[in-house]
Amino acid sequence: MRNTQRAGRGALRDMTAYRSAEASATGTGPAFSFDLSSNELTLPPLPSVLSAIEQGLPRLARYPDPTARALTEEVAGHLRVCADEVAVGPGSAGVLQQVLLALCGEGDEVVYAWPGFDAYPLLVAVSGATGVQTPLTGSGEHDLAGLLARVSGRTRVVILCSPHNPTGTVIDHGRLDGFLRSLPQGVVAVLDEAYVEFDRGGDPPGLPEILREHGNVVVLRTFSKAYGLAGLRVGYAAGPRRIMTTVCKTALPFGVTHLAEQAAILSLRAGTELRERLSAVTSAREELSRHLGELGLPVLPSRANFVWLPLATSAEPFAQTAATAGIKVRACPGHGVRVSVGEPEAHRALLTALARTDLSHWS
Ligand SMILES: Cc1ncc(COP(=O)(O)O)c(C=O)c1O
Repeated sequence: MRNTQRAGRGALRDMTAYRSAEASATGTGPAFSFDLSSNELTLPPLPSVLSAIEQGLPRLARYPDPTARALTEEVAGHLRVCADEVAVGPGSAGVLQQVLLALCGEGDEVVYAWPGFDAYPLLVAVSGATGVQTPLTGSGEHDLAGLLARVSGRTRVVILCSPHNPTGTVIDHGRLDGFLRSLPQGVVAVLDEAYVEFDRGGDPPGLPEILREHGNVVVLRTFSKAYGLAGLRVGYAAGPRRIMTTVCKTALPFGVTHLAEQAAILSLRAGTELRERLSAVTSAREELSRHLGELGLPVLPSRANFVWLPLATSAEPFAQTAATAGIKVRACPGHGVRVSVGEPEAHRALLTALARTDLSHWS
């Protein structure tokens, strides 16, 4: 007789594996011409980076450096910290998994704001810990007092995300500083800065300063967003040596490929080329926000490469309208809808479809 009981420990038995919005869509659905659902860059990697990738292809028969030492040192130099305060891994999601495995286990709790990055609940469950979700404020920001109120004797980690996915809001330096000082000893804040490069306004906290001033924070960054290397899977974390030493122990050996390592090193060295791209993305973001606002839709000011419309129950009708125009967006049912900054044609097609729709019943 076949045993139909699911295998695995605790929370993993009932957990749903990570799936893209496409994979989780029911039915066959419409064919999409444009994907504005995953906050990717629509441009190819920088020319200097592409050419290094091409040159590295013949080395694919060989294993990469198991610790990606050259990239670790490059990141450390970039951040003005020591190499043993840095861990690199297969995307910042991979590095977050390392951090959670290093710091948490069964019976521990991880506090984070919700809605948030879809991978947080999954990675917390993989670590064995329990996730404690805290609602965002009405303006889509972290409720720092609410997060602090949920920190208990079992809390090991609080995840903060700034700019926040999916709302694009940031935690300014003063509030972040106060929050980090209020955390009980032994609780580590993980500050996910996947979109920090798109934050051109306000006072984005300087990472070296944060690390110098606080011994309880690990900062995560990625090459998937601003650098356009989502397909290569490479990201990093920086934090106090005593934490990062353990984080390196939970790494998958050979987790960063040689191609990803070289591409990431060159990406960090790109100055003007990168700044030009970022400013094109932020201008397109402002224009998209303005046009959506002109249609009477609520749009939060964003500091990332996407915009958030807090449409509550109208999130799904928005996503369906977009889908009929061949545009894939990310709906968070009951909360809102997130639209990545994409190709000008995609923005035009979306705005045209919305202009033809009766939006008067949408929240
Ligand atoms: C907030 C946030 N953190 C981390 C990631 C993961 O990025 P990576 O591709 O580096 O794993 C994402 C990806 O969408 C994200 O939105």
